[in-house]
Amino acid sequence: MDMTQASESGIGTLPDACGCGGASGGSNCAPSGEGEREQVLSDHEKYVFSSIRPYYEEPIVADEGQGVYLRDINGREYLDFFAGILTTSVGHSHPEVVERVREQVGRLGHTSTLYLTEQHGTAAKKLAGIAPGGLTKTFFTNSGSEAIETAIMAARHYTGRDEVVALRYGYSGRGAMGAALTAQASWRPLTTGVTGVVHAMGPYPYRSPFGELPEEELAERFAADLEEVILTTTSGRPAALLAETIQGVAGCILPPRGYFQRAAEIIRRYGGVLIIDEVQSGFGRTGNHWFGIEHWGVEPDIMVMAKGIASGYPVGATIARAEIADAWRGKTISTFGGNAISMAAMNATLDVMIREDVPARSAVRGAQLRAGLDRLAERYHWIGNVRGLGLMQGMELVEDRASKEPSPRRATALLEACREEGLLVGLGGLRGQVMRFGPSMLVTREEVDEALARLGRACEVVEAKG
Ligand SMILES: Cc1ncc(COP(=O)(O)O)c(C=O)c1O
Repeated sequence: MDMTQASESGIGTLPDACGCGGASGGSNCAPSGEGEREQVLSDHEKYVFSSIRPYYEEPIVADEGQGVYLRDINGREYLDFFAGILTTSVGHSHPEVVERVREQVGRLGHTSTLYLTEQHGTAAKKLAGIAPGGLTKTFFTNSGSEAIETAIMAARHYTGRDEVVALRYGYSGRGAMGAALTAQASWRPLTTGVTGVVHAMGPYPYRSPFGELPEEELAERFAADLEEVILTTTSGRPAALLAETIQGVAGCILPPRGYFQRAAEIIRRYGGVLIIDEVQSGFGRTGNHWFGIEHWGVEPDIMVMAKGIASGYPVGATIARAEIADAWRGKTISTFGGNAISMAAMNATLDVMIREDVPARSAVRGAQLRAGLDRLAERYHWIGNVRGLGLMQGMELVEDRASKEPSPRRATALLEACREEGLLVGLGGLRGQVMRFGPSMLVTREEVDEALARLGRACEVVEAKG
């Protein structure tokens, strides 16, 4: 059976692992796997850091993925609308990506950056081909956290300054630098020892301390705080402003129109560079553009990417203007950064994205998804706000619309109810009160309809609970 084959309903399903339709009950065949599942849970509990907290009261043990579908070890199939946190950008195990990775694994696995490989150079060139304007030179790493750290270091080398302004609610990864830049207490439980990081107001219109204002005016107020922070909490000589175009972990927070233009102008006026984090919003996800920041007509000096860049393989990338990239003093190396296998995955992913025109697809499927979410918000008083661009959408849950009190209890209930319906979605927000949606950008119209139907039934369950 063709793994990508659509069923009669137009919705694709995963084939049985052993092809028997579940009749044999063999170890590769659904439904079985309860013993294996128990073993995985027990191994996890005994041997894995308990700070890694999986979703769900009964965690899913994932076993197979294809396109927008994920199957657990018990043979239950799910529509995956979170895509490994917006990462399997062209779907699980896209056949072209799998094939090209397989080919590279058999040819050459690892060299470090002491020797050049064709995959590495090609990947950097492809990235420069789609990145905004003057961004041409890339440093590859293994994760978003490292890519962020590389961007901050590059800004410091270039400007000869240390201080960095980040935005409240933002998430920038783990490790000391990532945690110091992050502005959500639960993701930075210890003091990090990193100095020189300050946080300006996060441009969060739904919870604006300025009340309800026209978007441009709101943008002006938030940007004014950035200038105030530079003038009151730094030496007045910042190296950089770091910002996500849409704050993902924070719950898909979309800044008001005009914010980024003003923020770019302010940081540059004070001699700093603009670092834009496209880890979640990059590669067509926001629709019509390759990168989220392009919606605002602003060109960053440095841009950071990871997650969807290689549809699930570990790649982080920091791209900068050449003069910034070349200002790095001293040596630097990442043993696995630019690894030939990861680069093969990235090159294949980018080829698929370009061929399939994912920015256009995300715009169309995103509009369909958004219309469905808006319809649910009309029906349920506890959906306070729907926001996002393209296939990066969030739905903030509240106790009631008047108080806007965040409702993490409803969000958790909806997450579980969705799972019961066979739909995987994400959680976000400072208090875990935002539902997040970010499926593969190759998702079909039928799959979006099906996800909305499942989400609708899950909402009924939450409504009944009160
Ligand atoms: C916006 C953003 N930046 C950076 C990171 C860190 O990436 P990683 O987890 O690959 O280190 C993340 C991870 O979620 C992120 O969402």
